[in-house]
Amino acid sequence: ESYDKGAFDHYMRKEIADQPEALRRTLSGRLEPRFQTTHLGGITLTARELLDVRRIRILGCGAAYIAGALGAHLIEQLARIPCQAEAASEFRYRNPVIEMDTLYIAVSQSGETFDTLAAVQEVKRKGGRVMGIVNVVGSTIARECGQGIYLHAGPEIAVVSTKTFTCSVVAMALLAVHLGRLRDLSNANGARLLRALDALPDRVAAILEREDEIARLAEFFQGAEHAFYVGRSAGYAIAMEGALKLKEISYLHAEAYPASELKHGPLALVTPETPTVIVLPRDDLLAKNVSTIEEVKARGGPVIAITHPGETHAPFDRSFEVPALEPELDPLLLNIPLQLLAYHVARQRGCDIDKPRNLAKSVTVE
Ligand code: G6P
Repeated sequence: ESYDKGAFDHYMRKEIADQPEALRRTLSGRLEPRFQTTHLGGITLTARELLDVRRIRILGCGAAYIAGALGAHLIEQLARIPCQAEAASEFRYRNPVIEMDTLYIAVSQSGETFDTLAAVQEVKRKGGRVMGIVNVVGSTIARECGQGIYLHAGPEIAVVSTKTFTCSVVAMALLAVHLGRLRDLSNANGARLLRALDALPDRVAAILEREDEIARLAEFFQGAEHAFYVGRSAGYAIAMEGALKLKEISYLHAEAYPASELKHGPLALVTPETPTVIVLPRDDLLAKNVSTIEEVKARGGPVIAITHPGETHAPFDRSFEVPALEPELDPLLLNIPLQLLAYHVARQRGCDIDKPRNLAKSVTVE
């Protein structure tokens, strides 16, 4: 893969477009249809050792931390192992208790983020087990972990992460299926998820073809200085990532909030000038999300729903509908339009998309 922008105006846009190919590389050689599981050759823990894992904790910074939050949902759902993500920077300073039956996972695009590296070293120093989910082969974090899953997403130049966010989540989905099939995930469910993972690159490509629709949605932010991104459960992780992208490149103040918590504070700030983006996957929280939309609308707040066709007749103002694939992977698909939304809002505001002020691609200092 070359380092130039090709036909695109920005590296970020090129890297969004790269996603189907990047995903194919992350998946390559890792789907095992015969056993309805995944093959992860970079993990040195044995099946027996993986079965003894009682908890998983995922560590990362920025988008890598948010990818971990979505990965934690997948692992908990598919493998039924309690799993939580935590900002590596918080973890390393709070004198964490390292448990021998916990598996620690460090997520990092560059493999050089100082706080994530320090978290890995803290786990190792206390005798814990850690694996990496890293893009850059041979990077410091990858070497320090000694085992894990490489993304093979190709170089990512834009400061904000897009394709490596998507590929990190897919790497954790591969791990979730693997751990699930060692436990109670059925053959049928294993096969269903393998088929969905295999279909994912084409599904992402189909969303990218609808860029014009998303560019029109971006006009919704004209005149706004504040926006809310809300969702529940995995939808909340997507809301976090959507808000992070928007604030990083457009300099709009975007706040992600669990939809259920709006009424405990932020609702006081909702006005006709504060758009709310609600992430609505097909899950059993849909009805609750509809009542959140009604709460926001009742205060005059404009609402954009990122959802699936035919899911709801809630009174949102605009929507972008992504054909559903499988419930476990749908939240990840809902993130793709949010990447393009942030990109187009930033473009319309004339921002320096590839090099946002005050930010660095890789933070190698404390
Ligand atoms: C910086 C970048 C973010 C990135 C984070 C973690 O803050 O600006 O885009 O998500 O570092 O980077 P890593 O290389 O560890 O994934």
